[in-house]
Order: sequence, then C-alpha cells, then structure tokens
Amino acid sequence: MRDAQPRTVYLKDYRKPDYLVDSTRLRFELEPNSTVVTSSLEIRRNPAAGEGLPPLRLDGVNLELVSVGIDGVALGVDEYTCHDEGLIIPVHRGAFTLEICNRIDPEGNTSLEGLYLSNGMYCTQCEAEGFRKITYYPDRPDVMSKFTTTIVAPRDYPVLLSNGNEIARGEIEGDRHFVTWEDPFAKPAYLFALVAGRLEKVEDQFTTMSGRKVTLQIFTEPKNIGKCEHAMHSLKAAMRWDEEVYGREYDLDIFMIVAVDHFNMGAMENKGLNIFNSACVLASPETATDAAFQRIESIVAHEYFHNWSGNRVTCRDWFQLSLKEGFTVFRDAEFSADMNSRAVKRIEDVSMLRTTQFAEDAGPMSHPVRPDSYMEISNFYTLTVYEKGAEVVRMIHTLLGEEGFRRGSDLYFERHDGCAVTCEDFVAAMEDANGVDLKQFRRWYSQAGTPLLEISDDYDSAGERYTLSVRQSCPATPGQPEKKPFHIPLKLGLLAGDGSELALDTDGTRETVLEITEAEQAFVFEGIPERPLPSLLRGFSAPVRVRYDYTPAQLRLLMRADSDAFNRWDAGQRLAFRALAQLQQDFRAGVELQLQPELMEAYRSILQQEDLDPALVAEMLTLPSAQTLAEEAEVIDAEAIIAARNFAEQNLAEALFEDLLETFRRLDHDKPYRPLADDIAERRLKNTALAYLCVTEKEEALQLADTQFASATNMTDSAAALAALVNRGDDQRAQAALQSFYERWKEDDQVVELWLAVQSSSPKRGSLEAVRALMAHPAFELTNPNRVRSVIGAFSNRNFLQFHQPDGSGFRFLAEQVIALDKLNPQIAARLVTPITRWKKYCQGQQEMMHAALQSVMDSGQLSADLYEVVSKSLK
Ligand code: ARG
Ligand code: ZN
Repeated sequence: MRDAQPRTVYLKDYRKPDYLVDSTRLRFELEPNSTVVTSSLEIRRNPAAGEGLPPLRLDGVNLELVSVGIDGVALGVDEYTCHDEGLIIPVHRGAFTLEICNRIDPEGNTSLEGLYLSNGMYCTQCEAEGFRKITYYPDRPDVMSKFTTTIVAPRDYPVLLSNGNEIARGEIEGDRHFVTWEDPFAKPAYLFALVAGRLEKVEDQFTTMSGRKVTLQIFTEPKNIGKCEHAMHSLKAAMRWDEEVYGREYDLDIFMIVAVDHFNMGAMENKGLNIFNSACVLASPETATDAAFQRIESIVAHEYFHNWSGNRVTCRDWFQLSLKEGFTVFRDAEFSADMNSRAVKRIEDVSMLRTTQFAEDAGPMSHPVRPDSYMEISNFYTLTVYEKGAEVVRMIHTLLGEEGFRRGSDLYFERHDGCAVTCEDFVAAMEDANGVDLKQFRRWYSQAGTPLLEISDDYDSAGERYTLSVRQSCPATPGQPEKKPFHIPLKLGLLAGDGSELALDTDGTRETVLEITEAEQAFVFEGIPERPLPSLLRGFSAPVRVRYDYTPAQLRLLMRADSDAFNRWDAGQRLAFRALAQLQQDFRAGVELQLQPELMEAYRSILQQEDLDPALVAEMLTLPSAQTLAEEAEVIDAEAIIAARNFAEQNLAEALFEDLLETFRRLDHDKPYRPLADDIAERRLKNTALAYLCVTEKEEALQLADTQFASATNMTDSAAALAALVNRGDDQRAQAALQSFYERWKEDDQVVELWLAVQSSSPKRGSLEAVRALMAHPAFELTNPNRVRSVIGAFSNRNFLQFHQPDGSGFRFLAEQVIALDKLNPQIAARLVTPITRWKKYCQGQQEMMHAALQSVMDSGQLSADLYEVVSKSLK
C-alpha cells in the first residue's frame, strides 16, 4: 500500500543500469515470521552507463533492514538512506562487494509475491518485481547475475530447492540442515526461485539431441504424487519438440517443477526450477477433465520454452514483456497444435482472443503489445501482451514462411544469447535473416486497438476479372486518437459455386496471402471463370475484424465446403451471430421471437457430416457465448443477449433432439481413458450433445445425465454430467448430484475447485445468494486465488445472467469483494474488478449501476497501486 498516487513509469525514460552485479550470493534462514536473508553482491560500475560514480539505488519493499556493509566494513546508519521503496548508498569505488542482511515475514505475505508460505511450504514468485520483497537489489531484468543460494531450514523441511545445480549440503547443529545451489547462467532477479517443504517427487530422464542426460523432477505434497504423470509426459514431449522445431536444447543437468496451491497466475519459468499453480500441473483421469489435461500440456510446454525465449534471451525492461510472452505463447500454441487437432486448437484460441482480448482492446485499459507506460507492471500481464502478442509473432511467421521464420529465430537466439533485449531486436533479427523490411509491421507493437477490414468485391464476367477492395481502419484507444495503417497478412482462397477451390493464378495456386499496407487497397485476380465466393482471413491470419456482406447461403457453402477448417467454423459463427442479433433486436422491440430456419438447417447438417472431426463438430454446434455476443454488440443489453441466446439454444435443442440423441448414443461407449486428441474429440461431441439434450429438460435427457454421472470413470464425463444436472432440471436432482460429488471428492483440491465453479457459473443454480453461501462453505478461502477464481471469478465472468441481474446486485457484490481482496492480494483484486470496468459499453441503466459500483471501490479508502491503476483509468 502506498501513501500518494502511484507514479507512472514510461518506456521513453529507459536508462541503462548504473551498476552491474557480477555475482549474487544469498543465504536464507527460514522461519515463518522472521526469515533472515543475507546477500553478498559483487558490484561494478556499468561502463556503458556513463561517467562518475552515482549513488547505488537498490529496490526493496516490506523489508526490515538489519545491516549494510561494503568490502567487509559495516556502514553506519547515516552512511546510507533507507526509504519505503529501497536503499540509496553512496559509492566511492568502481567495484566493490556489498553485504546486506534483512528480515522478511513469509507467513504474513498474502500478496503471493516474494517469499511466502503455501500450506506450510515456502515458495517464491519474483516476476515481475517480487525479488525486491526478498532483499535489496537492482530488481530490473537488464541486471543479470550469477546466483549461488544457500537455504538453511529445520530438518522437517527435507526438500530445499533453488536454481541450477546442487553443490553442497550438510547438517547444522540444532536440528537444522542446509543445501547450496549454484546457477551457472547469469540471470535477472525475476528468475530466482526458492522452495522448501515436505515434498515428494517423481523422477525421469531426458536425453538431449547432443546426448546429454537431464534429470527431470516434479515435486508435490505427498497426497498429490499420483497426479504428475501427465505433466512429466508433456515435459518430455516439449523438450523434444523444441529441439526438432527450433533446434533448442536444454542447458542444465536438472529440470524441476514444483506444484504450489496458492499462486496468482498459471506458472513461472524460474531457471531450472519452474513453479506451477497446482491446477496447471496436477492431473489424473479420475480427477481432471480433458480441458485440464490440455491446459497442463500447454503450460508445461510454455514454461519449458521460456528457457530459451525468456531466460537465455530475456527482456531489457518490462515494456518488452511480449518479447518473451508473445513469442512463447506462439511457441506453445504451435506445440499444442502439433500434439492435438490443429484446427480445434486454433478455434479455441481465436474464440478466446475475440471475446476477451478484443474486449480488452476496446476498453479503458487498452494498450499496445509493447505498452509505453504503466503504474503497476503486474497489470500488464494481459491478453494483449500474451495472446495478441502471439498473433503478432504468428503474422511474422505467416509473412516469412516456416523456413524464413526459423532462420529468423536462429539468428535471434544466436545474436542475443545471454542478453536482455527488446521487441525491436526480435523484429530486426527476423528482417536481417530474411532480407525483408518490416518497418510498417512494427506498428503492431506500438498501436493499440483492433483493426477493422471492410471488404467488398466486384466481378467482371467478360474480363474474367475479380477485384477485392479492402479498407482498413482502427478505432481510437486511450492516448492514441489516430492510427496509421497496419501491415496485415490476409490469407484467402476463392470458392466456386460448387464449393471447389478456384485457381488464383496460372500456376494453379489455390491459397494466397495478400499483404495489406494501405488504408485502401484493391487486389485484382485474373482468369477467374465465375463469380467466386471469397474465403477471407483463413486460419485467422491477423488479429482483426473482417466485415464482408455474406448472404446466409454463402455462409452455408463456406461451412460445408471451405478447405480451411477454421473458416468453416467461422462461417457458422457468422450465421449464428446474425440470427442472434436479430433475436436481440426483436426482443427489444417486443416482437415475438422466431429462430431463422437457415440456422436450424445449418446446425442439422453439421450433425450429419460424419466425416468431420467430432471436436470440430462440437465447436460448430456451440452457439457464441453471452460474453462473445456482448463483445460483438455495439451497446450491451444483457437482458436481450440472455433472452436471444436462451431462445436459440432451446429451439435448436428441441428441433434437433433426435439427431443429438443419435450422436450421443453413437459416442456413448466406455473406453479406457486416454487424453489423446481423438478420444478427447469424441468426449467433447458426446458431452456437447448431452448438454443440448438437457436444455429441453425432458426426463429422457436428464436420465442420460443421471446415468452418465453415476457410471463415469473419468472426470470429463463426470463433470459434464454434473454440469448438465446443475444447469437443467429440478432442484432435488441437482442437489443430490452436487452432494454426492462433494462427498466423493472433498479431499481433492482441484476437483473441489471444479465443484465450486460449476455452481457459481450456473445461470440456474448460481444466484448471488448461492454464491454467498459458497463463500461461507469450508472449501472457500479468500487468500487462495484458485478458490476466489472458482467462485467470484466464475460468477462475474461466466455467469452472465446472474451477474447482470437488473437490480445491479451482482456489480455491488463484485465491488465489495474486490475491496476486501485488495487488502490481501492486490494482483488478484486488480484482475477481478475487470467486468465492472467495461461499464461504458452497457445500455444506460446497467451502465449507471456498474459505474456506481466502480466508484465505490475508488471511494473505499487507500487502494493498492494495482487496483488504483485499473479503477482510476476505468472511471475516466
Ligand atoms: N512469466 C509467467 C508466465 O507467463 C507469468 C508470471 C506472471 N507473474 C505475475 N506476477 N504477473 O509464464
Ligand atoms: Zn510466459
């Protein structure tokens, strides 16, 4: 918590560090309330930073300083300045050893940043600026140092871990022991990690492409030791993939993963010692859904990939965060696409991007992929930096092609290994390796907002000439009223009336990438024998919106015949959007609702296409979520969105009941569980059918859910049946299912979190009162972010109906929780408040109530810098 308004940090103010730290020796004497940290830093004037010897400024927050010494001589209290955010020490020599001793309170640290306790286990989270909560240090990523760490703890903490290799261990009198770790790679402080606890491990081995053997270990609390197999398998697959696709080999003799229950994010790539949110690493068929298995595979890979894209080559400053995050998300998405169904992975990612990142980019916190200012960097671990950042890297990949991109990444790693660099360096390596000019492309890093492509066409049958006219624009965003044109790769194909793909040139090419660079541009295709149907932005080749006036018949042709699976799905989405927009309009006008027959027929024919990947069928059958409809709407009318979507879902379920039943029965066989793409696809379609069947609330359908609930042997089927029974049908049945589920799984943290979320996200069972009751349940804990996300997060982000109750009670509830959380965990508070920061987009009544709720947060007293930044920017 701070005294004054937090200050804003600007990219334009970046200066090289005055001092470098060649080596960092740390010693921790662990005690819950009074851990003693002793450091010895070899410091040297940075020759690149200028003349003279300016004072040394170290960051430090919530530390109790014990002593400071230079080259073995203790400093008196008048020989340095200690303030709220750090230490200032006058310097008299160009190189010296600084010794500092301070105390910290891990048990009292509920921010989950720095060193803290989670269920009795000590662990750390230092990215972005958590190391300053451990000891005084130049806590910035461009200061890279070799770390040696000694951990001293009571013997009932048998496992003591840090980065690198273990180099010593021993006993200390008085029931204590120590372990010393040395990391041979220089790294910034944000990659430091320490773990101490009563942990068990599973161990495996990986032989790298040059034949080195690496020990792989996953540590958990003893009760979870049976849930590590999938993560281990994913890790080995990721290590192999990075060798094959990027030529990147692992560089230490040991790679460790630790599962931690209290964690603000998904996981953290600390050098050689990744720390994971338990929910993102632990899984077994009985306790984890397919979605969890896939998420674990991608996060394990993501953190592993950071060893090169993040650790070996790191960020110069936090404005460059997307340098490592955008690139690494792109890498993990490609890995997942290679391990599973590429099309389905792309659809999942794009529908998330369009719903949540587009909303972020159109909201008060909109910022470029490389932000140019921040108050609190934790607020910039965003969908824009991660997901849009990954799309930017993907566009480079599309423009350069597979091989060109690899040449670029090879040059990037070669040039910058061991360095802290910028997004500019990344783009420059791509250019230099390929002899291309990406000058205009760089605007993707500096301009915020989602571009819009308005596309029209013209066909000259006499000349067999087809002209595509493209106009690009981008809405104003905070601080950026005008935008310059982007460089946009538009991948496309042209379909003939029978659905076949037309040749685009004399070579017979059937797909091309147009490079849009102007505000308005026309592209001419010669020798096109008939008026074609354009299949635009295939594979979502750029993070933009596309407007083109398709007729419903054209969309149905694309759905059926496009060679691009992503665009088949997208055509179905467009058809659904249109039908749902009409329903919303009719609802507001008080006209009787009627579902467009085209949509019904389109959905029926999807079910009948047996040659399609079942997962793709499931995706195509799923109506856009209420959140997605809200993002698409000009003005959000929550009531109309809910009415339209419910009406459409109900009608589809009833009209297609027999087809859905047939699909369900066909896939309802009991196979042993494997988390493999084909099986996941079948379960996905089966459970999508089950959810639809239950929408009708017919006894026949609810019985199917009952039977599946009782007999399921894996969590995917069990959770799907539970959700169906909670969301539909009578109370008694729902309560019985919820209760037996809880009784069976109450000892399993991950399953309990699922149980909480099923309820708080349920339109039928997740009323505000029900959510308050869940918060009073022993399973709820305000200091555990996973529990908070499962209850408060699921309610406000996924329970559109209950959160948007017309009396505004949902908004007031969220404000109240955010205020309470800010005292414990500012990062979580600042994230959770998001739904009410979008008040401007709502219709008037809702808007006023949301605004009032947001204002009440502002007026509640002293806010953390995290929450203050989000709330103050959103009230403007
Ligand atoms: N670098 C981590 C990852 O994306 C995320 C750590 C974020 N931590 C935070 N406090 N915001 O893999
Ligand atoms: Zn990351």
